[in-house]
Amino acid sequence: MSTASSDAGNLSNLLHENRRFDPPAELAASANVKAEAYDEASADRDAFWAKAADRLTWAQKWDRVLDWDNAPFAKWFVGGRLNAAYNCVDRHVEAGNGERVAIDWVGEPVGDERTITYAQLKDEVSQAANALTALGVETGDRVAIYMPMIPEAIVTMLACARLGAPHTVVFGGFSAEALASRIEDCQAKVVVTADGGYRRGAASALKPAVDEAREIAARAGHEVAKVLVVRRTGQEVAWDGPETGGPDVWWHETVATASTDHTPEAFDAEHPLYVMYTSGTTGKPKGILHTTGGYLTQAAFTHWEVFDLKPETDVYWCTADIGWVTGHSYIVYGPLANGATQVLYEGTPDFPERGRWWQIIEEKKVTLFYTAPTAIRSFMKQGHDIPDQHDMSSLRILGSVGEPINPEAYVWYRHVIGGDRTPVVDTWWQTETGAMMISPLPGVTHGKPGSAMTALPGVGADVVDDEGHPVANGSGGYLVLTEPWPSMLRTIWGDDQRYVDTYWARFKDQGYYFAGDGAKKDEDGDLWVLGRVDDVMNVSGHRLSTTEIESALVSHPYVAEAAVVGATDEDTGQAVVAYVILREGAPENCEKELSDHVRKEIGPIAKPKRIMVVPELPKTRSGKIMRRLLRDLAEGRGVGDTTTLADSSIMELIAAGQAQATDD
Ligand code: WTA
Repeated sequence: MSTASSDAGNLSNLLHENRRFDPPAELAASANVKAEAYDEASADRDAFWAKAADRLTWAQKWDRVLDWDNAPFAKWFVGGRLNAAYNCVDRHVEAGNGERVAIDWVGEPVGDERTITYAQLKDEVSQAANALTALGVETGDRVAIYMPMIPEAIVTMLACARLGAPHTVVFGGFSAEALASRIEDCQAKVVVTADGGYRRGAASALKPAVDEAREIAARAGHEVAKVLVVRRTGQEVAWDGPETGGPDVWWHETVATASTDHTPEAFDAEHPLYVMYTSGTTGKPKGILHTTGGYLTQAAFTHWEVFDLKPETDVYWCTADIGWVTGHSYIVYGPLANGATQVLYEGTPDFPERGRWWQIIEEKKVTLFYTAPTAIRSFMKQGHDIPDQHDMSSLRILGSVGEPINPEAYVWYRHVIGGDRTPVVDTWWQTETGAMMISPLPGVTHGKPGSAMTALPGVGADVVDDEGHPVANGSGGYLVLTEPWPSMLRTIWGDDQRYVDTYWARFKDQGYYFAGDGAKKDEDGDLWVLGRVDDVMNVSGHRLSTTEIESALVSHPYVAEAAVVGATDEDTGQAVVAYVILREGAPENCEKELSDHVRKEIGPIAKPKRIMVVPELPKTRSGKIMRRLLRDLAEGRGVGDTTTLADSSIMELIAAGQAQATDD
């Protein structure tokens, strides 16, 4: 943490945004959730969530909505029993919707596609549940999943849920070491993987990393009993099957041959559903535990609410990987619990050509689209010619998640992708919150570019100062959650104390959950998330958020992406240093113009002392900019730990580049 981060309590409010977009009249008239929901929820929050839980099918109804007596350890829907997979699959078939498409899967190789109806999904999930049982998986056992974006990944997650065996999905881009540490931490009994997957036109291997992870875990004293392998690419794999006394079994020889009959058992509402590892700034990754009833309630409800889902007619597409929480809540559990039809895409956005995403939207007539600001900004860099070649008039709502969306990126998204018709819902949430917490409602809220607007009905959020007092409109501070919510994390796997210390210690007296983010309330009281408080800068005694200066840079027509850091400075404490990626066609030597632009947009205090034009920015595998590494560079230090970077060569590229400084 930098010095400034310990005191983000009076973050400056720099950017002012006057553009407003009203909800389309038709959407407003037929919206699933209307303005009354806010009043209803504040009048009786428990009753509001009980009604949301009623959208699920329970084997046994709960006795009590919330038990918060042992805070911060919550129990939701106490005494209730349900099966998550039954809710995501079987009940839609029983309701007569078995022929509805659940997953319209698009492989990266062009033409490699599969359509799976709810009836087919039910059969496949049942087969996988039977096969996992035969491999020794019992209720409560952990199963690690390390797979590409293929339907079998979803089938496996649901099969685990069906058995009450918590899964832990590890992103397929992670190393053997990262996989091993997660397998060890949750003592996974079985690993489900594939021979490989397709990325940028090539078959990349997965199985060797599993073999290595298994060895690492074994050295640490944990034996993985079975490794279940999907044949996706057909590439050569080292095999250690039952013949050689090893754990490897093929999916097509076990799952595909298993019975399609499987009766799901109902589990307690608080039965563990999954563990999702998220890296902190220090120490080992935290295993975030989500349980069944509350999690499924809020994932399903918010998906229906914020995307205004009409399951009979909408075609939904979320571009996240199932290795992230967004893939869990808004590819698997939310949409499937709602009986949605969705596109699932295996590959990269720009393969085999840069318009691949837009072509999929056109061809599949996608109506609801959910992606991340990092993707939007990289498309901005390429300009609008490529998306303009596609008819995307089917789209009716666009969503954003993962980082603050700069106002300019929001407007570009709405205009170029949404044809100025579609609301953009900027949804703030975290692995820990399990589901969306702060977001506009597309049929109610007017859109304000860059603002996540207000807490959703039933959610309590505020921006507070160092003492935990709410800040006034027009000021910034810490973003906190003031009330427990159904999909909240229940603990950190195996470490209750770390759970309390990490999330509940900072505002212990108030009983607030502190999310790690800074935010401001604008003059209307609407919320703007300003990024991690660790990234806050202190320039001449003013606390500045990186996000607002980045947004000012991105509002210049030459700039596609920007990352801002505070570097130690003799005169000002910290100085603003900016790394920018230019849009195609921007002139060279435009640094001075850019820094003058920031001065004009925000004021002299925020004017970057140095601007470096770079070809790429260091990002995590889920697309978040790692400002810590840029700070190392800006302060002339050796660059720290780069193991969580998507591409570790990028730092060398940036350091070596003939970055030009505008010291004036
Ligand atoms: C950031 C992803 C601004 C934030 C679901 C949060 C956002 C972290 C937004 C969680 C948003 C996510 N506006 N910032 N709409 N959405 N973030 O755990 O810093 O991968 O704390 O969960 O992403 O990231 P995570």
